[in-house]
Amino acid sequence: RAEDGYALWMRYAPLEPTLAAHYRTRLGQVVAPDQTATQRAARDELERGLGGLLGSDPQAPGTAAIGPALVLGTPQSSALIAPLRAQLQSLGEEGYLLKRTRVGERDVLLVAASRDIGVLYGVFHLLRLLQTGARIDALDVRQSPRLRLRVLNHWDNLDGYVERGYAGQSLWDWQTLPEWRDPRYTDYARANASVGINGTVLNNVNANAQSLAPQYLDKAATLADLFRPYGIRVYLSTRFNAPIELGGLDTADPLDPGVQRWWRDKAAEIYARIPDFGGFLVKANSEGQPGPQDYGRSHADGASLLADALAPHGGVVMWRAFVYAHDVPADRATQAYSEFVGLDGAFRPNVVLQVKNGPIDFQPREPFHPLFGAMPRTPLMMEVQITKEYLGFATHLVYLGPLYEEVLRADTRARGKGSTVAQALAGMAGVANIGTDRTWSGSHFDQANWYAFGRLAWDPRQSAGDIAADWAALTFSADPGVVQPIVGMMMASREAAVNYMTPLGLHHLMARGHHHGPGPWVDGGPRADWTSVYYHRADHSGIGFDRTAGGSNAVAQYSPDVAEQYGDLARVPAPLLLWFHHVPWDHRMASGRTLWDELVARYSQGVRQVQGMQCTWAGLQGRVDAQRHAQVAAFLRIQLREAQWWRDASVAYFQSVSGRPLPAGEAAPP
Ligand code: GCU
Repeated sequence: RAEDGYALWMRYAPLEPTLAAHYRTRLGQVVAPDQTATQRAARDELERGLGGLLGSDPQAPGTAAIGPALVLGTPQSSALIAPLRAQLQSLGEEGYLLKRTRVGERDVLLVAASRDIGVLYGVFHLLRLLQTGARIDALDVRQSPRLRLRVLNHWDNLDGYVERGYAGQSLWDWQTLPEWRDPRYTDYARANASVGINGTVLNNVNANAQSLAPQYLDKAATLADLFRPYGIRVYLSTRFNAPIELGGLDTADPLDPGVQRWWRDKAAEIYARIPDFGGFLVKANSEGQPGPQDYGRSHADGASLLADALAPHGGVVMWRAFVYAHDVPADRATQAYSEFVGLDGAFRPNVVLQVKNGPIDFQPREPFHPLFGAMPRTPLMMEVQITKEYLGFATHLVYLGPLYEEVLRADTRARGKGSTVAQALAGMAGVANIGTDRTWSGSHFDQANWYAFGRLAWDPRQSAGDIAADWAALTFSADPGVVQPIVGMMMASREAAVNYMTPLGLHHLMARGHHHGPGPWVDGGPRADWTSVYYHRADHSGIGFDRTAGGSNAVAQYSPDVAEQYGDLARVPAPLLLWFHHVPWDHRMASGRTLWDELVARYSQGVRQVQGMQCTWAGLQGRVDAQRHAQVAAFLRIQLREAQWWRDASVAYFQSVSGRPLPAGEAAPP
């Protein structure tokens, strides 16, 4: 049943009859090769899609040379497409062309690419156009991905538990693999390919060394076999001291020849099973994970060890820059930059440094990470969370497209004006929000975050609003009367969460450990930087973390123009105010209010924004199927209750510190 959410954005619900007839006469006969697994995947998807959308089977695939035709293929697989070879090459290995043209007497719609995978991507694009009711008469689309690595990171443990996962258990059923090939694995691959995701790291960055043991490699190899037709490479997170825990060596020192041999052998063992294995993702010397620093070596030494083992096979190392030391730093936001910026140029060519979008940890809002633009000789990937660890888990409706877009478009000024974060990237990694829940993502609206991640990784210049409109049309209905209100809700939702959780640049106010509800108070945590008071620094005089030259000077990690702006109380953007400044409660804001009044107003506004979403959603009753309508409505009730909880707890706590009265009209919760 499409209404249970399982079909994601690939519902292929019947189109309105005149539109279906219109498309049917233009598409005509399908001419598609089926010699390779990817060719079969493309053809199957097309049959599934056209069958559903057009209400009847399209004309049987064949080669009859009369009437309009939909022709799929590459220069190798199709004589009709062979003449386009040079044009297709310019679109790269994964690019594709959708073009309506005439070949002799026939009207032909070409879905053409250099390689089969491009054809599959093209098929998904075409199906999206049909689902959204687009005109195809003069179709001429050329697409190629802007980023090479578009990778999901599953934080899945071997026991089925997903760290920071809110959508059930891990999809990977290690118990029944490799024998049982759950069809759900293929549906997962289809969903990823439909948005251009081309890699998946199967296991948690807090890795278990056992994931490299032969029996798990056999299981991973089966998943790789299932994903390969869809252009998805499998990667594994590795534990740096696996040579000890798994190999029985007495050291994991990267300069030790025995350790180097162990990793070379392990790489050979993996590639014997998975010839196109993507490589390793590594969290080292962070939050207690082992790493090269345990042996007095650098991150570059550690990354080189693994890179050299993978290089003969074509694999990459995605080395994480999220380092979080044991001793409490003066300012945790500065640590990654301090440890890595000096290593620019020291990494092997097959190492990519994976940097979180902001300098702390997936907060509702952070400034962009200062390493973007600061390591010109090192390929960088941006890691974002799709799972919403700090954004209300799966129940709060928070569309993350605007968050991703904000960072991708941020101007690092590294090479003058217009040096966006997106330009500094070789790839994007998204911490997956996928599990065994029937909806895959724990809620209907959280599917949009998976979708938006893929679309933006393909082309970071796309707009979050356009992507939301596509998603809403594919997922609910192409009727503008449905799409527009849903897009309105989605586009305002991230700012709503910022308002009721962490307005004006505040961060990490969540309760310790689970990170769900508010916890801005002193909670007696074991470490200063595990408590919210470390971050908000509220006292009788004011609130905010002073990261200017007078404080931690974290601002100096940005290029001079950015540092100057962020460091200047008069010029810092209001959404980042308290990230960079400790500001007196009576500071006059642009709105004319004092900071204290503004803070309270933002919290209340966040609650009202959730009420606004409820109203919009109520207006869609009858236009969205009852099953999904009811679940979203129920989740919005939970979100409203929790937004109020956030607002009341935060305002009450900060008031106990500021000693200021509540502004008029704010005494009671709105
Ligand atoms: C956050 C998260 C951890 C995770 C870590 C990481 O701190 O709470 O669960 O392991 O990020 O990205 O490594």
